[in-house]
Amino acid sequence: MIIAIDGTLASGKGTIAKRLSGWYGLPHMDTGRLYRATGVAAMNKNTDFDDPAALAKVARTLDLNDYSEDQLRTAEAGQAASKVAAVPEVRAALLELQRAFAHQPKGAVLDGRDIGTVVCPDADVKLWVDASVEVRAERRWKELHDKGETLSLDEMIAQLKERDERDKTRKDAPMIAAVDSVLIDTTHLTIDAAVDKARAAVDAVIAQSSEGSGS
Ligand code: DC
Repeated sequence: MIIAIDGTLASGKGTIAKRLSGWYGLPHMDTGRLYRATGVAAMNKNTDFDDPAALAKVARTLDLNDYSEDQLRTAEAGQAASKVAAVPEVRAALLELQRAFAHQPKGAVLDGRDIGTVVCPDADVKLWVDASVEVRAERRWKELHDKGETLSLDEMIAQLKERDERDKTRKDAPMIAAVDSVLIDTTHLTIDAAVDKARAAVDAVIAQSSEGSGS
């Protein structure tokens, strides 16, 4: 079973993905890490962000083990990720890796921005996770503040808006809900309540397919 989870930054999609992966015993890929690592690697190598071929080479030769979670979660890494993610050559370089991960024998859970639309349009379950920009900014601000970043909440809101805009308006694989996705708005939900909704959506698909197979 392939579960595709897309949505906005700090909407809770990553946590939902991890929890579904544990619950259904499926491997999980946080595809944002691929773009974050490409962005960080490009910065470290002083790659020209206006050179698509050079950025694609960085993406193709990426070793995720080279980067700690802390390195990938900074606001700077997020901005770099959002820039390289707008480059079609980078997206193409990372596509097969994601598809191969999704099509393992058991299936997988993948979270990102274009999983249900581009990477796995054939996914069994598609979720679209979102929340108001103010709530998302506050969540991400707390997370970064705990790690010592000194960004103000207003700056965080501005950054999120800028990144949402770039993710939504890029020509290649823009961030958009798949027409057949189930919406989970986490603005007023605890993470447990959001995960319950996600599980209900997956269980409905499992029940349907076992009815269909007559078991
Ligand atoms: O989910 P995240 O914040 O780790 O993602 C980092 C950036 O990568 C974000 O700006 C959008 C981009 N991204 C993407 O374009 N497609 C994906 N499948 C995952 C992330």
